[in-house]
Amino acid sequence: MLVLRFSHVFFGALWVGMMAFQTFFLMPALAEVGPDSGKFMAALMRRRIPVILPIVALITLVSGFWLFQRLSGGAPAGLMRTPMGLAFGSGGLAALLAFLLGIVVMRPAMMRSTALQQSLASASPEERATRSAEIQRLRARGAMTGWVVMILLLYALGAMAVARYL
Ligand code: HEM
Repeated sequence: MLVLRFSHVFFGALWVGMMAFQTFFLMPALAEVGPDSGKFMAALMRRRIPVILPIVALITLVSGFWLFQRLSGGAPAGLMRTPMGLAFGSGGLAALLAFLLGIVVMRPAMMRSTALQQSLASASPEERATRSAEIQRLRARGAMTGWVVMILLLYALGAMAVARYL
């Protein structure tokens, strides 16, 4: 139980913290830098952020649903009828949705835009223009989804923080 709770809170804090840094600081800074950001993005990818972040998120999710199951004593519907259960449950669902959006929309957009950015050097001038437009489109999609993911994660964090006092 101790390990489960520790993993949940520890990795949950890392997940929200990493995403907040990415959404509020990293993405706007990269957009400002423009084409020069390619090298930096490639260096970031080499540090396996697209692998590490989903693992951190998965540990939080699995431990969270496990904790919820334990807290409910095998009756999750009953727990959901209490204000505390509703807060843990809705926060948990928001976190799950954030994870799915991150995996289905954000991650592929980030990875594809980085790959395109790296291919720019060897591209012909016409190709470069189309690829640059595609990179901008993918980055905009990634940034937009990043905001939605962030709002869902902040809701989850807020709900978890106050659930026991409701
Ligand atoms: C963004 C992701 C998440 C973060 C940052 C987070 C954070 C936290 C924190 C800080 C606590 C301690 C609250 C307290 O003891 O008063 C907690 C507890 C809890 N969380 Fe989460 N959580 C996340 C996702 C989830 C998910 C997906 C679920 C699944 C339903 C969940 C279910 C729970 C439950 C049931 C507890 C109470 C554990 C206990 O009985 O002590 N959490 N969470």
